[in-house]
Amino acid sequence: MDLASLGIAKVRGKLYTTTKYNDSIYGEDVKRIEKTYFREWEPKRSKIAAAILKRVKDLPFRKNSNILYLGASTGTTTTHLSDICTEGRIFAVEKAYDPFVKLISLAERRENIYPILEDAAVPERYAFFMDNIDFIYQDVAQRNQVQIFNTNARAFPKARDAMLILKIRSISGKGSEDEILKREIAKIDDFRPVEVINLHPYSKANYLIRLKKS
Ligand SMILES: C[S@@+](CC[C@H](N)C(=O)[O-])C[C@H]1O[C@@H](n2cnc3c(N)ncnc32)[C@H](O)[C@@H]1O
Repeated sequence: MDLASLGIAKVRGKLYTTTKYNDSIYGEDVKRIEKTYFREWEPKRSKIAAAILKRVKDLPFRKNSNILYLGASTGTTTTHLSDICTEGRIFAVEKAYDPFVKLISLAERRENIYPILEDAAVPERYAFFMDNIDFIYQDVAQRNQVQIFNTNARAFPKARDAMLILKIRSISGKGSEDEILKREIAKIDDFRPVEVINLHPYSKANYLIRLKKS
């Protein structure tokens, strides 16, 4: 995978996104080399970074991608996508007020983050003002994670690529991880899984499902 074309650097086992902003968002290390800042992308804090270190086969976003991000929290992963997709937009949906306040402050400093205080289970409340979403990323840690994903996939029919984080123990405390994973993947409607990555040891019982429109 060509990380460099996305402005992602891997140096001595650590990942960095390159950016024009000298801004540490969650305590990550920021280094300057000439006019570029390198922000460390921590795999224990961001599941896409964990998936890259676990050698996900491809990353479905480009510099000009428009991303629907469901479950943005305080913007840890959102800001790394903002570093990468410099010519696109990241629509960051979060339903909890406290993390949303942080998202607003990030959006004031970065021109491609659009925070939305909404419930991802009800996309009709936000889909009408978003055009040309290419890629859906979801990390909501809810029992009905797949149902929320399916609802958004239908509301954004132009999106052909997605990544869905399945947090197994938010779905059920009983049964094996494998059983729950298989059962939940079988519930995905319009996309087909092309890769499943267990994010251990960076994140416990969390799987990244790389999806393409069938
Ligand atoms: C595991 S955290 C996300 C971490 C974030 N993706 C990151 O990497 O920085 C899950 C977030 O999803 C949010 N969330 C849960 N259910 C949601 C829903 N139905 N709509 C929007 N956000 C939701 C929670 O409030 C929480 O902030």
